[in-house]
Amino acid sequence: MVRLELSSKSVKSVSADAVVLGAARSPGAQGAVPVLLGADDLPRATRTALSRALADLGADGAPGSVHLLPQVAGVSAPVVAVVGLGEQPADPEVLRRAAGAAVRALAGRRRVALALPAEDAAAAGALAEGAALGAYAFTRYKAAGRAPVEQVTLLVAKPRDRAVRAGLERARVLGEAVTVARDLVNTAPGDLAPADLADAALELARGTSLSVRVLTEAELADGGYGGILGVGQGSSRPPRLVVVEHAPRGARAHLALVGKGITFDSGGLSLKPPAGMETMKSDMSGAAAVLAAVKAVADLDLPVRVTGWLAVAENMPSGTAIRPSDVLTMHGGTTVEVLNTDAEGRLVMADALVAATAEQPDRVVDVATLTGAQVVALGNRVSAVMANDDSFRDDVLAAAARAGEQFWPMPLPEELRPSLDSQVADLANIGDRAGGMLVAGVFLREFVGERADGTPVPWAHLDIAGPAFLTSEPYGYTHRGGTGVAVRTLVALAEDLAS
Ligand code: BES
Ligand code: MN
Ligand code: ZN
Repeated sequence: MVRLELSSKSVKSVSADAVVLGAARSPGAQGAVPVLLGADDLPRATRTALSRALADLGADGAPGSVHLLPQVAGVSAPVVAVVGLGEQPADPEVLRRAAGAAVRALAGRRRVALALPAEDAAAAGALAEGAALGAYAFTRYKAAGRAPVEQVTLLVAKPRDRAVRAGLERARVLGEAVTVARDLVNTAPGDLAPADLADAALELARGTSLSVRVLTEAELADGGYGGILGVGQGSSRPPRLVVVEHAPRGARAHLALVGKGITFDSGGLSLKPPAGMETMKSDMSGAAAVLAAVKAVADLDLPVRVTGWLAVAENMPSGTAIRPSDVLTMHGGTTVEVLNTDAEGRLVMADALVAATAEQPDRVVDVATLTGAQVVALGNRVSAVMANDDSFRDDVLAAAARAGEQFWPMPLPEELRPSLDSQVADLANIGDRAGGMLVAGVFLREFVGERADGTPVPWAHLDIAGPAFLTSEPYGYTHRGGTGVAVRTLVALAEDLAS
């Protein structure tokens, strides 16, 4: 993880391998020479030369664009990077992405100073967060061609300001958490069996106030976790249920988080075609996000109890695998006929949702790379939110917007429920093909427990199938591979429940 620091030094003389300035687009003037931001400390001649250089390069301040200029007279650092900030004022997500794009473009340099507009603590926090997320590389199997930036200095007017420092600390915590999630997702599935993911949770919690409970195969059998066991039974590497908890004294609320942790999804006997399997090491992204979010909540010491439930199994075809038409008894007793073994996520999630809601939390959120239909509907950058409670769905959307993650509301139409009826069991694991994302949500809704008064626990379901893993060009602070999506939304939601 990059080192983040604050300084009131001048962009002129700060000691760094590169400094980053902003370029704003003047309203309605697309294609015009942009206005330099963060350059007030520079001599007039330097500013004029920079503007000329930007004009020559055709830079127009488009958000996310980055131009590198070597040896700018009047600036000590050997490279000036100018990042587009679009029209002003820029919202926090534009700042996050700009800082991320700049730091990503500057990989290979050790120290970077950001002279971007940090008018208030929120803006400074957004810049720091974007920088932290942009300075990432997954190097376990291959030394990165260019190592990520090691240190980012935010040039601000008041580096000792308490709110600014708190914003920086929050950015550091979020950066570390997202890094944890991305690293787990990027790890080869051969190196991340269910037991390895459980070990990663234990390791992450070591020396912290977090508690971790790992249910092994035998304990899952005792507890009647037929969904997790059924999905895991085709693999030589047995499944796990991992419970990670932050339970501070005086907690103001209890939030349960449930993550899909399929360490590899081959489809099982309903085998996926080869191309569909290529990215299926990412099928544990929900569990990774939940684990990382609980860690961040603990690091931030939020006064809210958060219980993370990681439903972890490897979905493999073999002589011991579940067969289409097998019937599983889920935790709590509901029976499910498995008509398609590739609809495995809902099976492991059902068990974990029952267990999570049995504790009567105030809210429950599940996160899963659940359906290909999510990708068809919303693409690779926008995740879906479904819920059994409109006002809670709005709360999740508000948290996501604040976090800078794109989520969109989706319905859970009652009329889809009969398509999940089974001839032999309480439910079938597949229903109508049309609206497949919603059908999966309707299936999960069946496993959300009730509160003492007989009303269901307010629940939201996040389908992150598309956004969890990036195979196309990187952008902003988002790298190829595991993105760590949902971590920041879950933390923002915990912050909201804490206040
Ligand atoms: N893990 C997949 C969903 C997925 C697809 C995630 C593409 C990311 C990218 C899930 O387990 C799955 O296979 N779902 C099936 C369900 C179907 C059989 C009802 C799907 O969406 O095709
Ligand atoms: Mn599947
Ligand atoms: Zn899956």
